[in-house]
Amino acid sequence: TIAVLDFGSQYTQVIARRIRECQVYSKIYHFETPAQVLRDDGVAGIILSGGPSSVFASNAPMPDRAIFDLGVPVLGICYGVQLMGKLLGGKVAKSQRREYGLGSLGIRKKSPLFAGLPRKLNVWNSHGDKLTALPPGFAAVARTENSEFAAILDARRRFHGIQFHPEVYHTEHGMDIIRNFVFGVCGMSENWTTADFIKHTVADIRAQVGKGRVLLALSGGVDSSVAAALLHKAIGRQLVCVYVDTGLMRKDETANIEKLYAKHFKIDLRVVDASSIFLRRLKGVTDPEQKRKIIGNTFIEIFEKKARELKTREHIEFLGQGTIYPDVIESVAIGNNPAALIKSHHNVGGLPERMKFKLVEPLRQLFKDEVRRVGEKLGLPREVVWRQPFPGPGLGIRVIGEITKPRLDVLREADAILLEEMMAAGLYYKIWQSFCVYLPVKSVGVIGDERNYADIIALRLVESIDAMTADWADLPRELLQKVSNRITNEVRGVSRVVLDISSKPPATIEWE
Ligand code: XMP
Repeated sequence: TIAVLDFGSQYTQVIARRIRECQVYSKIYHFETPAQVLRDDGVAGIILSGGPSSVFASNAPMPDRAIFDLGVPVLGICYGVQLMGKLLGGKVAKSQRREYGLGSLGIRKKSPLFAGLPRKLNVWNSHGDKLTALPPGFAAVARTENSEFAAILDARRRFHGIQFHPEVYHTEHGMDIIRNFVFGVCGMSENWTTADFIKHTVADIRAQVGKGRVLLALSGGVDSSVAAALLHKAIGRQLVCVYVDTGLMRKDETANIEKLYAKHFKIDLRVVDASSIFLRRLKGVTDPEQKRKIIGNTFIEIFEKKARELKTREHIEFLGQGTIYPDVIESVAIGNNPAALIKSHHNVGGLPERMKFKLVEPLRQLFKDEVRRVGEKLGLPREVVWRQPFPGPGLGIRVIGEITKPRLDVLREADAILLEEMMAAGLYYKIWQSFCVYLPVKSVGVIGDERNYADIIALRLVESIDAMTADWADLPRELLQKVSNRITNEVRGVSRVVLDISSKPPATIEWE
């Protein structure tokens, strides 16, 4: 194990993830974890993360000093190197200039951390304090314009310190530096794969849950699907999944989910058909924010009612959630206690606290692509693991204006055609999102010799990396033509198909 002591850096999870990328097991520990615990866990190396504090702050987070006596290599990053400086007898000062962003690192002395790397590197910095005098036993390895001691080393004790962040993409050869520490300095070997993650997580879930029962809200999205499959592998029929059909799902979605989970995975799946309640509450509502609110609140209400019922009647004590790391919101909090900063993001809005469930969140440490790999390994089909993002409010925000059953049905048919053609063209998995939008305006068309006053469907096809920005996808004319022909021919009441050619910004991906 490589231990990452967390001093509250926004990058702590990224460090852990980079080590997993080396196929080595890493675990994040609270910064105060006693050295004895690390020893008992068989830790082979320790990374001190960065953090928002200054070592000068009266409440600066401090580790157990005995970690430096464990005889294992230590790598201090940013705040971590200042801690080493301060605790091991060097000097740290407030820097005149904050160092932020890319800087040039000049390597002047051999160090196993930089083995095989060029002598000049662009590295990502983000710090205010800096080391001004080395602790006994240390030597300077590299410098930046602003700092004599941008990288330091005590070769005898195998203590390394770096001011910059090797874990972020902007740092050149950052991954090589991490590999050098993990393999070269700590002597680890590659033995942590997705299969190992599954094996250990299954054991953890069993240990946590015992003979208890777990309730999980299954949405059909990647995260809750993978969480369900993982929980099911661990505890089988002790897992109860609830799927709320809001009536705002895509064509055949509920049936597909039932087929997949009840038949293929043999999961205890309870489908709650709440479509009539949703449609009733959405009647006459046209404002997008209002729609979102109604859909969100109704979902919580229905899930909560079902959960309450199951909790008492079937004695379920745990709530499983597909929370993944990006959902875990970090905010700057009181007292500078990094551990207290992390708040859980609840997909089902505050339910756990109110209902006194204990939480099981097996994906909490993972990033999206890691979740997908776990899903694949568990045998979930490609359509689930690699599906495009689908908004929580579903088709409710893709029927512009008032939501009615006939409009939803038109949209569902059009959307199914687009999906089918995207799959057939081999493009569905290549672009970020491809979907249809129902517009509440009619236009004049002609069928045979008849005037046809009918609906309009817009195609939204976008490329994106993270949904923060997006561009419209330039798909082959033949595909667009086919989709348009099929929609106007096969979907009753649609006579016109238009293509959305707006980027984000200034538009957004969804229309509402
Ligand atoms: P926008 O429309 O803001 O969408 O460019 C960015 C990404 O988020 C998805 N989206 C949502 N996802 N609940 C969700 O879970 C929502 O209310 C929601 N609204 C938008 C959208 O599909 C796109 O991927």
